[in-house]
Amino acid sequence: MNQDFEVDITDEQVVSFQENGFLSIDRVTTGTEIEWMRGLYDQLFDDRWGEKEGRYFDLGGQRAHTGKDVLPQILGPETRFPELRETTYFRNAVTITARLLDVESSTVSGGGHMILKPGGYGRETPWHQDEAYWNPHELPNRLSAWLPLDPATLESGCLQFIPKSHEGEVVDHRHVDNDPLVHTLVADHVDSLQAIVCPIPIGGAVFHHCRTLHSAGPNLTNQQRRAYILVLGPPGQRLEKPFERPWIEEEQKALANLDSLAASKS
Ligand code: NI
Repeated sequence: MNQDFEVDITDEQVVSFQENGFLSIDRVTTGTEIEWMRGLYDQLFDDRWGEKEGRYFDLGGQRAHTGKDVLPQILGPETRFPELRETTYFRNAVTITARLLDVESSTVSGGGHMILKPGGYGRETPWHQDEAYWNPHELPNRLSAWLPLDPATLESGCLQFIPKSHEGEVVDHRHVDNDPLVHTLVADHVDSLQAIVCPIPIGGAVFHHCRTLHSAGPNLTNQQRRAYILVLGPPGQRLEKPFERPWIEEEQKALANLDSLAASKS
């Protein structure tokens, strides 16, 4: 792999991220590395790696459903392939994160997930803030680096952002279809007319703050759209009084019921 490719971003880019809550970068890694990552990526999804441990599941459907997966996700692919932490992408993403969050790069850590949007039937990702999914006992200072392994266009479901939305609180979210067994959350009342669409060429990535409202359309092309996302930042701040996120409790309850149902059948 080419380990020589280092990205430097400008002060203007840092300011733009801090003002708007997202920043797209034309190039964070090489074509050779993307090609290599595609091989690992396909292997993970072909194997449905980690399904039993809850690492592979469909974001777009009910947990443990039996039909076709419309938005499959893999959590923590670096556990299976630790070399993913040694990539040009990972290294550059850490450097850029430190600049954007204005912290020392030695304090930045994190890990990845992969979201596959199948061609033709890959489901949309509705408006949400990533922090809505996270531990309500912690105030995070994190961002996501979103690297597509296929061209990300409006038609294939690239990301869209609401500028400056990271300055607000985490808004109310609910589960898609109002079903707590569907992991995907949606924030209602988002003014999508404000959205900035961010198509990304191969080798590029988009960084967004954990409070930035974002969404992605369905994949209307006949090509899959693979994305490898890193969530990075310094340690969060432990809260005395947790945030109220009832949607998280609803999901935990629904999953516990599903488990006890499965246990009673076996
Ligand atoms: Ni997200």
